[in-house]
Amino acid sequence: MKISIIVAISKNNVIGKDNQLIWNLPKDMKFFMDTTLNHPVIMGRKNFESIPEKYRPLKNRTNIIITKNNTYKADGCLVVNTIEDSLTKAKEDKTAKEIFVIGGGQIYRKFLEENLVDRMYITHIDETFEGDTFFPEIDYKNWSSNEIINHKKDIKNPHDFRVVVYNKKS
Ligand SMILES: NC(=O)c1ccc[n+]([C@@H]2O[C@H](COP(=O)([O-])OP(=O)(O)OC[C@H]3O[C@@H](n4cnc5c(N)ncnc54)[C@H](OP(=O)(O)O)[C@@H]3O)[C@@H](O)[C@H]2O)c1
Repeated sequence: MKISIIVAISKNNVIGKDNQLIWNLPKDMKFFMDTTLNHPVIMGRKNFESIPEKYRPLKNRTNIIITKNNTYKADGCLVVNTIEDSLTKAKEDKTAKEIFVIGGGQIYRKFLEENLVDRMYITHIDETFEGDTFFPEIDYKNWSSNEIINHKKDIKNPHDFRVVVYNKKS
């Protein structure tokens, strides 16, 4: 089963501030929801808590939360205490061909450091933002890339962005 990261990053690799997303890009949010639909999603405890209550757990996908707290509970979600257990749980979903790691910063970093990631769906927002949470620096020459969306800013989506799929070179 493929292990994929899905993330939106600014030009300076910012992904969040004060445990929230910084930008409002409904077109990218729709891409995220459509792409992860019916697939297991793995997330850090902080990312889970940053999702507005009415949208969590994310519908029609197995939600897996990683925390060191072994009494943590969240309705409708699986809770695990290690990266390894998150993958074990995700792989129990036999219909899924792809597992999505949906952040936040600590969780992306851990999966990349441990060399667990086969694919990344990165929304590159063509602006610089101030923030407190960052996506790790990536050596893009180790990844083959394919741009699938090129958006020019409009009223509803006020930043230029590109969505690029990166597959790890073997
Ligand atoms: N731009 C994007 O695409 C995107 C996507 C997702 C999130 N975000 C943003 O990212 C920010 C949140 O990221 P974050 O880095 O602060 O937090 P995070 O990665 O979502 O969660 C961190 C938490 O995960 C648990 N954890 C981390 N490593 C662990 C390990 N090895 N074993 C067990 N548990 C582990 C810990 O939970 P406990 O403290 O409970 O032990 C830790 O506090 C928010 O601003 C959010 O909006 C942006």
